[in-house]
Amino acid sequence: MSELPSRRAVLAAAALTAAAVPTLAACGRKHADVPSSGTDIAALDDVPDGETTVIYTPAGDPVVLTRSGDTVTALSGVCTHQSCSVRMEPDYILCPCHNSKFNADGTVISGPAPDPLPAIAVEVVDGRIVVA
Ligand code: FES
Repeated sequence: MSELPSRRAVLAAAALTAAAVPTLAACGRKHADVPSSGTDIAALDDVPDGETTVIYTPAGDPVVLTRSGDTVTALSGVCTHQSCSVRMEPDYILCPCHNSKFNADGTVISGPAPDPLPAIAVEVVDGRIVVA
């Protein structure tokens, strides 16, 4: 025979649900979204040589940029779990929504993110980092 949940348990569950809704609503984009070809992401000088950083495009898309001299590689900064924006931590890329961690090459260190951060082809044109 099953027991009905207490009024207190029902209210606690409702409060947890209400608290979670704004967090999930902040993750409104699709992780397939990547800046389109020709998008000017940043100046090369915005990315310190030898470092990885997260920069937002003018449209608000987060992009993970890694610079080695005049060469830049880019990843989508949109988490492959539920599409939150990632940020840099000293030793890895973090999705703060559910704590997925990624290496600088986008591979997943720990989930729940199911897939690596997608690569974005970029080129440096006249000192600007542009989506190829
Ligand atoms: S949205 Fe990134 S870990 Fe859930």
